[in-house]
Amino acid sequence: DSNCSSVPKDEFQDLIQTLGHHTNWDGRPIVKYDGFWLPLFYFRPILSIQKYFKAKDSDIILTSFPKSGTTWLKALAFSIANRNIYTTIDQSPLLTRNPHTLVPFLEFDLYADHDNPDFQHLSDPRIFATHIPFKILPESIRESECKIIYLCRNPLDQFISHRHFLLENKFLKDAVPLELDEAFNMFCEGIHIFGPIWDHMLDYWNAHLKNPEKVLFIKYEDLKEDITFYVKMIAEFLGYSFSVEEEKQGLIEQISKLCSFENLKNLEVNKNEYTGGVLKNSSFFRKGEVGDWTNYLTPAMSERFKKIMESKLEGSGLFF
Ligand code: A3P
Repeated sequence: DSNCSSVPKDEFQDLIQTLGHHTNWDGRPIVKYDGFWLPLFYFRPILSIQKYFKAKDSDIILTSFPKSGTTWLKALAFSIANRNIYTTIDQSPLLTRNPHTLVPFLEFDLYADHDNPDFQHLSDPRIFATHIPFKILPESIRESECKIIYLCRNPLDQFISHRHFLLENKFLKDAVPLELDEAFNMFCEGIHIFGPIWDHMLDYWNAHLKNPEKVLFIKYEDLKEDITFYVKMIAEFLGYSFSVEEEKQGLIEQISKLCSFENLKNLEVNKNEYTGGVLKNSSFFRKGEVGDWTNYLTPAMSERFKKIMESKLEGSGLFF
C-alpha cells in the first residue's frame, strides 16, 4: 500500500524472526539488518523510513554515528539555513530551545511513535537528522537532489561519549550494563548500536567520494580545529553561501560562537530541562573535547582498536 507510511506489524514481525539478535552492552536489544546492528526499539520506524519517507530536493539530511557531535551539527545547520528568518543572533531559537527540538531525528522523533508522521507544518528547507547507515537510507534521500552531511568522530571518543550518555540517562532501567572492558570488546567486534562504526563511516565516506556535491563528510576534530572555515564550507555546500556583506558583518563568527560548546552548554535550557521527557539536555554537552578517551582506555585497548580500524579502513583514504 503506497499510502501507508509504516511497515505493517505482521511484515515487521516476520522479518524480525529472520534476523540475528544480540544485547547491546547497555542491556538493550539490537538486531542485525543489512550488515548493521540496529536498535530493536527503533527498528520498525527505521524500516518505515526506508520504505516510505520521501525526501524533497530542498531537504537537508544530517547524518552521523551517535555521539559524534550531532547536536553541534544540528545547531550549525539550523543557524545557517534559517538565517534569513532569524536575522540577528539574539533572535535565534537556539537561545531558548535545545537543538534536538529544532531538528528532529527521523527514527527517534518523527517515526518513533507515529505511523503517519505529519510533515505539513515543516517549512522548507526541512532539516532532518538520522543515524541510519547510508545503504539503509530511503532511496529518495540517496537519489534526490537533497543534501547529506555526515559528521564523524574518533571512534574511541565516540565510545566513551556514548557510554557516559547512556549511563547518565538511565536508559537501562532493569538491565545491567556491561563493565567497560566487556563493552569495549563488543565495540571491537562491531556489535553495538548502529555498528560496526567503521562500516557506518566507510559507506558515507565512499558516498562522499562518489558524489561530493551530494554528501559532505566532516570530522568532529576538524570542526574543533577551524570552525569558521567549516561553517563557511557547510553554507556553500548547502547552497546558502554567506554574502560578502554577511562576512563583513562577522556573521560566520557569530554563528560559530552561538553554536559553540561553551555557549550552548551554559544556556538555561540546556542546563536543567529535558528533551522528550527522558533525555537530560545537559547530557548532550558533557566535555566536548578531543581525546577524552585517554582518561578511560588503556594504551593496549587503543592499540587493539587502532589495528582494527587500520585494517578496516585500509585503502579507503579515510583515517583517524
Ligand atoms: P562528549 O561526551 O565527548 O563531551 P551527539 O551530539 O552526537 O549526541 O554527540 C555528543 C558529543 O558532542 C558530546 O561529546 C558532547 O559534549 C559534544 N558536543 C555537543 N555539542 C557540542 C558543541 N557545540 N561543540 C563541541 N562538542 C559538542
